[in-house]
Amino acid sequence: MTITNDIKYVGVNDHVIDLFEGQYDVPNGMAYNSYIILDEKTAVMDTVDRKFTHEWLDNVAGALEGRKPDYLIVQHMEPDHSANITQFMNNYPDAVIISSAKAFTMMNNFFGTDYSDRRIVVGEGDTVSLGRHTLNFVTAPMVHWPEVIMTYDSTDKVLFSADAFGKFGALDVEEEWACEARRYYFGIVGKYGAQVQALLKKAGALEINTICPLHGPVLSENLGYYIGLYDTWSSYGVESEGVVIAYTSVYGNTKKAVEMLADKLRAKGCPKVAVNDLAREDMAECVEDAFRYGKIVLATTTYNAEIFPFMREFINHLTERGFKNKTVGLIENGSWAPLAAKTMKSMLEGCKNLTFTDTTVKIMSAVNDENKAQIEALADELTKDYVAMNGETADKNDLTALFNIGYGLYVVTSNDGSKDNGLIVNTVSQVTNTPNRIAVCINKQNYSHHVIKQTGIMNVNCLSVDAPFSVFESFGFRSGRNADKFEGNEVLRSDNGLVFLPQYINSFMSLKVEQYIDLDTHGMFICSVTEARVMSDKETMTYTYYQNNVKPKPETEGKKGFVCKVCGYVYEGDELPEDFVCPLCKHGAADFEPIQ
Ligand code: FEO
Repeated sequence: MTITNDIKYVGVNDHVIDLFEGQYDVPNGMAYNSYIILDEKTAVMDTVDRKFTHEWLDNVAGALEGRKPDYLIVQHMEPDHSANITQFMNNYPDAVIISSAKAFTMMNNFFGTDYSDRRIVVGEGDTVSLGRHTLNFVTAPMVHWPEVIMTYDSTDKVLFSADAFGKFGALDVEEEWACEARRYYFGIVGKYGAQVQALLKKAGALEINTICPLHGPVLSENLGYYIGLYDTWSSYGVESEGVVIAYTSVYGNTKKAVEMLADKLRAKGCPKVAVNDLAREDMAECVEDAFRYGKIVLATTTYNAEIFPFMREFINHLTERGFKNKTVGLIENGSWAPLAAKTMKSMLEGCKNLTFTDTTVKIMSAVNDENKAQIEALADELTKDYVAMNGETADKNDLTALFNIGYGLYVVTSNDGSKDNGLIVNTVSQVTNTPNRIAVCINKQNYSHHVIKQTGIMNVNCLSVDAPFSVFESFGFRSGRNADKFEGNEVLRSDNGLVFLPQYINSFMSLKVEQYIDLDTHGMFICSVTEARVMSDKETMTYTYYQNNVKPKPETEGKKGFVCKVCGYVYEGDELPEDFVCPLCKHGAADFEPIQ
């Protein structure tokens, strides 16, 4: 096979192998690729597995057409590529090995010699000229062993990529690249995403026309597709939308729950549902699916106060490969003391950025009505985004979307001529920058609205994340009409004469009202900036941060009614009037939720 005018393929196909690396099923065999560059000097790229010594040496001799090889370039020392180094060096006594320092140490370990008198040690950025062709060496540690180098021929723009971009399968079998390349990647290189990312960064600086890996086909068209997949895989991204369900089942009850879930997911528009029986399917296929999709459901039985062995093995495969960035749902089964969900969750504890679903399906032997409801709820959670993306199924009037607008929290200070006042708002935004204009919305029921409308000035104090709940109680939950919010405090004043907070803010700005817009319940003040100071580089307190970290849990124990999501005020009663306004924070009925 000719790769370019000067580069020939001299590798071999292996249809004898049963398990690659002693564990991976390879129904279509394996290819061990080797190449020759024919120039003023000749270089052979890597050897092949030990079972193919003679076939490979014949291939090399045939391509050389009577010439002698000058160099053997060893990019990787795993025996599927290095097993014939000694035979080659014995056959060609004038040849010199080019490789990394670590590879020569490994040669000593494998073969008892590091070829110290017949070698060139290369590292990152080193080059060797063959005449017309210049070989540039790129180190690629842990893709897939620490000694790996790759070789870039800058003349023909060929990247010899060692194990990267390889796949299972011999070259004389036609099959889709991605399926067996993905299984190969996650099986063999999957743990080393960060190292592959580093390699892709280096490769990004090279003009590449052809990729020559050590396994699988030579890639010369549509390289962006292959490089894009490697980028997704090595960054643990979502390659395909859908849900993979990995399960074990002893007597069929867990399987029944899995089948019910799969049907529900499909019915709710999940673009792909991949169901894997871990006891019966190829484990490497199950592992590649787990990394391929963004969502996974693990379903298994409690077994010996633990989990079923195939699930344990599966989760171990995931965690040792740095499983992360996924949504995870759990189904457990147990006839007297179900522990499977807890065990699976604790096994995944070290994985980064996993989001567990709120619903866990807990089966006590066989699926009952409660389980059916749990399966429905789990399917709803897993398909929420797919339902919303689809114009047919989406709820197009879901105003909870508005809760996802990000807000900061601010204390707006003003003065009515006799006393200082302050209130908390989340409605401050910069609306233009030439000139700078800040919009501040204030509920007309707040005394500050009345004061600012009359005086035309205010200070906006940007609360920082260290602000305690007492700040919100002080400025948010009482009115300046009947409370002096600064009473007894020594106050600091800006040039406009208004107070600014001495602590718990990262900055403040003094504003002058330029325009007023009446918004029925609220008034919007469009303001210019007359002064602005920065006190610290702490982060601004957002509404979400306040909800999650500052606001105490409301005291709803034993009460029936509705609770304000903003301040925790409890309204007791069967129905909340539509026009109800929270007496503490002045938020409307939409910000209340029923007490559970
Ligand atoms: Fe193809 Fe890491 O050996």
